[in-house]
Amino acid sequence: MKGVVLAGGTGSRLYPLTRITNKHLLPIHDRPMISFAIEALVRGGVTEVMLVTGGTHAGEFLRLLGNGHEHGVDRLLYAYQERPGGIAEALGLAERFVDGDRVVVMLADNVVERSIRPFVANFQRQPAGARILLTRIEEREHLRHLGVPEFDGDNKLLRIIEKPEDPASSFGVTGIYFYPPDVFKVIPTLKPSGRGELEISDLNNYFVELGCMHYDVLDGFWGDAGESIDAYYAVNDFVRSHNVNRD
Ligand code: DAU
Repeated sequence: MKGVVLAGGTGSRLYPLTRITNKHLLPIHDRPMISFAIEALVRGGVTEVMLVTGGTHAGEFLRLLGNGHEHGVDRLLYAYQERPGGIAEALGLAERFVDGDRVVVMLADNVVERSIRPFVANFQRQPAGARILLTRIEEREHLRHLGVPEFDGDNKLLRIIEKPEDPASSFGVTGIYFYPPDVFKVIPTLKPSGRGELEISDLNNYFVELGCMHYDVLDGFWGDAGESIDAYYAVNDFVRSHNVNRD
């Protein structure tokens, strides 16, 4: 199983902080944001990792993470996204690295309280298809900033709606995704969305429509530190007073 951490994009919701650095290099308590995603993969048992980034501060990731060994990564590779063309586009850059294997993808602004190891195991056990991790969210305004799943009466996934006006459930799709090798055949078939990006929810809906998208629901805290300044500080506060990525 390979791991891909996505750390490109513009970070515009954290302007002006992100005018002078990459969002994923901003501090979360005592460490740069990116280290939490790397740690989540390593504690999940995934130690061959590609980091995809872009923009003007890409070199700083190399300075921070080097060959990855100090962070528990056996093999750390880097890819450069020329323009912020979307999460699915960024993932596409990892095709040759993943090289026919299965892959777990993590957005570098996501922080989780509990280890993702059980979900990696669930994915390894499933014979085919993809998997997403959901988190329960009660505030409807918060759901409007996320991908939100819709279910039928048997809790089967019907579709995922990206940033819905009218959320169809009380779950958000987190930025942790598990894909089979053929995901790289699907990415080139995606069409750019209204904001000109290849959307991860469109990629996920491909698997939902085939009836082979599985899901787990996270226990404990989940945060997207890039969602807003308030979310950034909420994640900081959590990390300051709790252990994260814990078994
Ligand atoms: O955090 C969970 C949410 O992440 C999901 O619920 C949404 O379905 C998903 O679309 C995503 O929404 P965001 O609005 O948070 O995506 P954002 O544009 O902030 O990108 C998230 C990360 O993906 C970002 O921290 C770095 C990476 N990224 C993003 C873009 C647009 C790239 O590597 N390249 C890109 O071009």
